[in-house]
Amino acid sequence: MCGIVGYIGTEEAVPVLLNGLKKLEYRGYDSAGIAVLGKPGLVIRKSKGALKQLEEKVAAELKTGDGASLSGAMGIGHTRWATHGEPSDINSHPHTDVSGKIAVVHNGIIENHGKLKAWLEAHGVIFRSETDTEVIAHLIDFHYNGDLLLAVVEALKRLEGSYALGIICENNPDRIVAVRKESPLVVGSGRGENLIASDVPALLEYTREVYYLEDREIAVLYRDRVEFYNEEGQGCKKESSHVDWDVSAAEKGGYEHFMLKEIHEQPKALINTLRPRIKTYAVKSINLEEIGFDGSWVEANRVVITACGTAWHAGMIGKYAFEHFARIPVDVDIASEYRYRNPVFNPRDIFIIISQSGETADTLAAMRMARKSGARIIAITNVVGSTLAREADLVMYTWAGPEIAVASTKAFTTQLLCIYLIALQFGFLRGTIGGDVLADYIDALENLSAYAARILDGKENIQRFASRQFNKSKVFFLGRLFDYAVSLESALKLKEVSYTHSEAFAAGELKHGPIALVDESTLVVALCTQSSLFDKMDSNIKEVKARGAATAAITYEDVDYFDKTVDEVFRIPHTLDSFTPILSVIPCQLYAYYCAVQRGLDPDKPRNLAKSVTVE
Ligand code: M6R
Repeated sequence: MCGIVGYIGTEEAVPVLLNGLKKLEYRGYDSAGIAVLGKPGLVIRKSKGALKQLEEKVAAELKTGDGASLSGAMGIGHTRWATHGEPSDINSHPHTDVSGKIAVVHNGIIENHGKLKAWLEAHGVIFRSETDTEVIAHLIDFHYNGDLLLAVVEALKRLEGSYALGIICENNPDRIVAVRKESPLVVGSGRGENLIASDVPALLEYTREVYYLEDREIAVLYRDRVEFYNEEGQGCKKESSHVDWDVSAAEKGGYEHFMLKEIHEQPKALINTLRPRIKTYAVKSINLEEIGFDGSWVEANRVVITACGTAWHAGMIGKYAFEHFARIPVDVDIASEYRYRNPVFNPRDIFIIISQSGETADTLAAMRMARKSGARIIAITNVVGSTLAREADLVMYTWAGPEIAVASTKAFTTQLLCIYLIALQFGFLRGTIGGDVLADYIDALENLSAYAARILDGKENIQRFASRQFNKSKVFFLGRLFDYAVSLESALKLKEVSYTHSEAFAAGELKHGPIALVDESTLVVALCTQSSLFDKMDSNIKEVKARGAATAAITYEDVDYFDKTVDEVFRIPHTLDSFTPILSVIPCQLYAYYCAVQRGLDPDKPRNLAKSVTVE
């Protein structure tokens, strides 16, 4: 989704803005632009395509000496992910009012922009772009009477939808006004300089003191201070937060791509997620006191899990885990479906909402529905201070570190670890798991990090396999129980980054339709880690083989059951069948990554996708 940066200080703004936008590239975009306010007034440069094109445009201008107009110590910048109007220079942000004195960058969707546009046109405004954003610039101008904050407060009253906004005005050259509703925006407070950004990595070179804006909260940034206001324009106080992770955590660190780096970070991320939650006194136990999880939570009659994409797949594994360990009914739902259904709530339901970013629009909407019903909410998220984290009753952070690649990898495996911990503690507190058994389960969880590292050590096997198979036009992943959910995640990874047509099937469903698709052009990857179902999986593999498919299996390193059936076996260390998803997904993540690279694609920036889907 779109990325926003803003700077006010003593440095030249252009390099700061371009640098910040670079840090937000992972969010996905199709054009970029900046507005700088200096001696010559408000100057705007935009470019369709990669940020590099904007950089080249600006560099060429600076080289020829025409760059003086780009000199100024304040400005705003934007990477646009098109929603209203095609990617083009004219539709790129910043957008201005008719006179060109007010510039606006926006992330989100203004739902009533059609109505507002008609109203503004009736007042003589001539629109230049097809965007919903342009109405904001004109509205602010409509209400502008010398005070930018007041004009923004008035304009906001008319806006419906979601927005994070950075606004500057030629007549108020000492301030940036920023506000958000349902789209992320962070304020960074430095020495003699202040910044805004859609995400923390864009701020870290300048400051670690940040303010996470609440919905409808307004920040006014001056060089030497930041003031906060509510939506009525009344001043309010706000506490800053200190970011303690390093800027290098958000950089590639020698890997060719973020996706590969993040796949390799999983052993460490699993330790970071697990360690603070384990007590190792006499008998090992789970410590969820830090998040306020006590006995009252396990009185629930039902657990409802909602999420999108990869996080939804984590939720499916959560269903199996809760049923298995805690013997409690679980519903798991795609957030974008859930929010438009008419679900039956029960006051004794608890909700688990999973989101790497904590900003996914559909997921937040589902959470708010649950909240309205009176249900209690546990959030599992990776982003400290995200909207989800702030609105839930309990937050369990995944502590995976920043995930930059669009394709989620380490967020998924750490989400799974969080879910296992909650499900096990649920079972323990409900009496379905005894203390000694729990300690054994914890031992098994503690082994997973080293096991993940072992799988990564053998990555060349997957790379070789991908170099032979990357051109397959159809790849199907098959599995049963926990393996079925991993199949869904594996198919998503492969389609996201390599654009291969890949699907996942519950292996038992094969004969009910999907087998009609299988022919010589198909690769079938069978996930085979559910020991009681090995014979069933073996039959399924033989069925697809008989129809000409190439086959591979992922199974335990001490199991030779499938050696004679499939063309290729990938092995993972032996753990509990119910914990295998954390391991078995890793070969599939690697396979997706290597297929993308073989196809000459950039796995970090898949076409049409954005890291954080903050609009519907
Ligand atoms: O930030 P979230 O976990 O809420 O994001 C949900 C999905 O958009 C996300 O998992 C998406 O499917 C990823 N691209 C998967 O790799």
